Formats: sequence, C-alpha cells, structure tokens
Amino acid sequence: MGLVPLKILGFSSTAIGIFVALGAYLFQLSGGAGFATASGEVSAEAGEQVFWSKGKCSTCHSIGDEGSAVRCPNFGVKPPQFNEPVGLRAAKRKPGLSAVEYLVESVYDPGAFVVPGFPTGVMTPIHQPPIGLTDEEIRSVLLFLIAKSGLDADEVVTQQIASAQRRFAGRAPAVAANQGGASLRLPEGDAEEGLRVFQTMRCFQCHKVQGVALDVPELSPEQLEASVGPELTGIGAVQTQHYLLESILNPNAVILPDPSPDQKYSEEGASKMPSFGASMTFQEAIDLVAFLGSLKEAPAAGGGLLQPTAESRPAQGAAP
Ligand code: HEC
Ligand code: HEC
Repeated sequence: MGLVPLKILGFSSTAIGIFVALGAYLFQLSGGAGFATASGEVSAEAGEQVFWSKGKCSTCHSIGDEGSAVRCPNFGVKPPQFNEPVGLRAAKRKPGLSAVEYLVESVYDPGAFVVPGFPTGVMTPIHQPPIGLTDEEIRSVLLFLIAKSGLDADEVVTQQIASAQRRFAGRAPAVAANQGGASLRLPEGDAEEGLRVFQTMRCFQCHKVQGVALDVPELSPEQLEASVGPELTGIGAVQTQHYLLESILNPNAVILPDPSPDQKYSEEGASKMPSFGASMTFQEAIDLVAFLGSLKEAPAAGGGLLQPTAESRPAQGAAP
C-alpha cells in the first residue's frame, strides 16, 4: 500500500475492505481457520487420506499392523517398543507439552524432540517441500492419528491443534535437517547432470536406485558384496533438498541405522559413506540433489526407502 494520507482516506469503505481482507489473511496465517477452508475439509477422515497418500507418512510409519514401514516409530501398539498408541504416549513425551502440542511440534520441528532409538534428522518437516502439506492437511492428519489412538478427535481438539500450530505460522522453510540454524535456499540443479555425477562418483556402487537406467559397468560379485548403502528409490518424495545435500557433504550428520543384522551402514559410530565435500564442485552437488529429488516413485516390487532387506523383514500386515 502506498502512503495514502489517512485524513483523506478517512474510514472509506475501501479502507475497511482492505482491513477486513488483511484481517482474514492474518487469521489464515495464524492457523485460525477451523473447518472447511480453500484446501478442503479438516477431519480425521481427510487425514486418513493424507496419511496413506499425499503426506507420505506411510513410507516411514505404520499403525499397528497396518502398513509395511518398519524403520520409524509405529503409531499404534507394537511391543516391546510401543506399548501405547501415539496419541497416548504423546502426552508423556515432553514435560510441559500437552499431547496435541507435542504432536504439532514433532511434525513442524522434528528435531525438537527425537524419539529414543531413532536417528535425528530423518523425520522430515512435513510442511516443507517435497511433502509440503498445508496447515489444514496437517490438522487433519493429526486428527486421524488421535482418532486412531482411540481418543476424541472433535471440534475442541481441532481448535487445540490450530492454536498449537500458531507457533509455527510463517516459519521460514529450508532449515537444514540437523543444523537447527539458518541456511540458504538452494539454486535449481539439473537432474540429468546429477545422474551423470551419480555415475562418475560411483554412488551406484553402494546405493541401488530402481527405475533409472544407469549407463555403468556391471558390478562384479565382490563389488555387490561390498555394497553397503540403503536403497535410494523414492527418496525424492520425502526428504528436503537440504537433507539430501547434507547427506552428500556430511554423511555423519545423520547416520541411518542398518535394518539388517550385519549393521553394514556404520562402524564405530561413523558412516561408511565417504564425504564428497572435497571431491565435488558445488554445481555437481546441486545437480546431484536435483537428481535425488527427482526419485519420487516408490518401487513397484519390494525394497525401497527405509525398507529392511528381505531377510530381516518381519511379518507384515496388509496396507489398506
Ligand atoms: C522419511 C521418513 C518419515 C516420513 C516420510 C514421516 N516421518 Fe514421522 N518420523 C520419522 C522418524 C525417523 C521419527 C522418529 C525420530 C524423530 O522423533 O524425529 C518420526 C517421528 C514422528 C512423530 C513422533 C512419534 C512419537 O512416537 O513420538 C510423529 C507424530 C510423526 N513422525 C508424524 C509423521 C506424520 C504425520 C507424517 C506424514 C505427514 C510423517 N511423520 C512422515 C520418519 C518419517
Ligand atoms: C562406500 C559406500 C557409499 C558410497 C560410495 C556412497 N554412499 Fe551414500 N550412504 C552409504 C551408507 C552406508 C549410508 C547410510 C549411513 C548414513 O546415513 O550415512 C548412506 C546414506 C546416503 C543417503 C541418505 C539415505 C536416506 O535414506 O536417508 C544419501 C542421500 C546418499 N547416501 C547419497 C549418496 C550419493 C549421492 C553418493 C555418491 C556421490 C553416495 N551416497 C555414495 C554408503 C555410500
């Protein structure tokens, strides 16, 4: 708005209109909207959809026996680690935070409290790309988890979630997974160039990627045997650019636990992945991030992100 002298403008209908519009905008920003909004209905039913599809939660989390992900916290009852559903244990996670406040914090700022036994930095901030849920979708998915825990997911709880979300309104995106501090927005990379870097840097020697044609020499049985990294198929659908960049430049920032019994991923607390910070140009790293970011498809048959190897895979329930 320009500097219109208020005396002249007075309380004209235009000015009132502007203030009303601004108020509505700020109200939206503060997460004040309860039910029906532009992005759809807020409800546990809407949240169920978000959980299994757009929100990608089921890539990493199961609920009791529903779903096939086994490497991140189960949201249902899964002894010995999880003896009560997430809505109940949420109340005990952080002194001073209610269950709702904890659940909200754990999706916007996952590093604020890390579930014991799980790595820091792997839970992705779901309001940022690539998942990029709206505040309403987040309200819905949390209502779904609360309802799944056998608790009321009514209007009162919806308002409690909305007010806990205000703390995170307008929070700048692109905070690096593990640095808890400022970081820059990354320039656009070239995914095709990134594929070339993936091949010349021999990332494929440790990481399987399904659905991408690599022009690389066939790996010998010894090389396959030495292959130690997690499969990267589908990683672009869930992890932020900063997570991907950090994985390349500083593999020790987040060390994934190896789901297989031989614990190949790390040795004495250090990742077996070499750091590429010294051998790579910034452009190559950016292109590589674009390539990894393009890996959005979940694998058709087995394997994939965060899945255990076939031998260690426990019995699974059917996904709905
Ligand atoms: C890339 C894997 C990944 C995805 C995708 C993911 N999470 Fe998580 N989540 C984790 C990990 C790992 C943890 C445990 C470590 C931590 O607390 O940060 C976690 C922890 C949580 C917790 C805390 C659980 C507890 O027992 O205290 C909540 C709540 C949560 N996630 C919700 C969600 C929701 C909702 C979605 C989907 C919109 C989602 N997550 C998507 C990996 C993921
Ligand atoms: C010597 C084997 C090895 C090589 C070569 C290697 N990595 Fe890794 N990488 C690993 C291991 C082991 C892990 C898991 C442990 C960890 O978190 O650091 C990992 C983890 C990752 C992750 C995180 C995966 C996830 O699910 O969160 C990414 C991304 C990654 N590597 C990308 C690359 C890229 C890109 C290259 C090539 C520039 C590369 N790696 C080369 C062994 C390797």
